[in-house]
Amino acid sequence: MKVLLTGANGQLGHCFKDIFPSDWQLLATDSLQLDITDGLAVNNFIALHRPDAIVNAAAYTAVDKAQDEYELAYKVNAIGPKNLAIAAKKYHAKLVHVSTDYVFDGTKSFPYLENDLTNPINVYGETKRVGELSVLDNYSSAIVIRTSWVFSEYGNNFVKTMLKLSQTRPELTIIDDQLGCPTYAVDIAKTILKMLMNNIQGGIYHYCGDKYVSWFQFASKIFATANELNLMTNQNIMIKPILTSAYPTKAKRPLYSVLNMEKVKQLGMKASDWNKALMYVIPRIHLE
Ligand SMILES: NC(=O)c1ccc[n+]([C@@H]2O[C@H](COP(=O)([O-])OP(=O)(O)OC[C@H]3O[C@@H](n4cnc5c(N)ncnc54)[C@H](OP(=O)(O)O)[C@@H]3O)[C@@H](O)[C@H]2O)c1
Repeated sequence: MKVLLTGANGQLGHCFKDIFPSDWQLLATDSLQLDITDGLAVNNFIALHRPDAIVNAAAYTAVDKAQDEYELAYKVNAIGPKNLAIAAKKYHAKLVHVSTDYVFDGTKSFPYLENDLTNPINVYGETKRVGELSVLDNYSSAIVIRTSWVFSEYGNNFVKTMLKLSQTRPELTIIDDQLGCPTYAVDIAKTILKMLMNNIQGGIYHYCGDKYVSWFQFASKIFATANELNLMTNQNIMIKPILTSAYPTKAKRPLYSVLNMEKVKQLGMKASDWNKALMYVIPRIHLE
């Protein structure tokens, strides 16, 4: 199978490349090789290379910055996926597009289903929701995977931030009233590959970690794992739980971001075992 990957230098993009089957053909592109916001370029690239499938791992993911960069976030998260959907349909390629738990407002108290009402509370979530709709409106066979709290050995993520801060700070205060499911990017990549191998019906699918936690609980687990691996430079770090209200950010975040995964489980997929993944990821994170 010939697969076009966009956003190849992001967390998910890197992980997808790492596990890509050696007997398939990968066209891995970054934003310089293929800017997904450029409809003509997307059409021409797909017309020329005729991939069997397209995996869109490209996105504008700077949640706070997006509040000040609406146009750019909209172009990458809404127009880009639309361009891919139009070309994928035209040239008969499967399309897997990745979206986010931030399409919900977080006011629920039990896991979100794929067809629950969306109500994004920040620009990032709003533009990602428009992206979901424009993908499915233009190509109903496309697959949209919503995931949450992504981490990996690549790029910037919460695990890296915690390990970095622990090197210089004696004490950290971490939000304890936002709940979500951490997800290892390799597990998302594996799920995408399984979906490409099988004839999955188009539509939205939730995929995330197996246990929900608060950011404070996630940080505690990160430090416990680093300690277990003898990789904590500051073993006496103090971490204190705080409320969201004590840590104002430009973009509001949903308080409850837990996704219901029954739909993908019915297809035989397993949730991301993020506890196990931390053991693998922490030694591989480069703290520059
Ligand atoms: N990170 C999370 O916690 C999280 C949570 C929920 C959902 N998600 C979703 O999961 C997916 C993967 O996220 P990630 O963490 O891997 O993101 P990431 O590390 O920020 O990578 C995104 C990539 O998109 C590329 N990109 C940006 N604008 C582009 C454009 N116009 N054309 C082509 N590529 C462009 C960037 O490449 P350049 O550097 O070359 O510009 C970047 O490498 C995204 O859809 C994201 O919304 C992420």
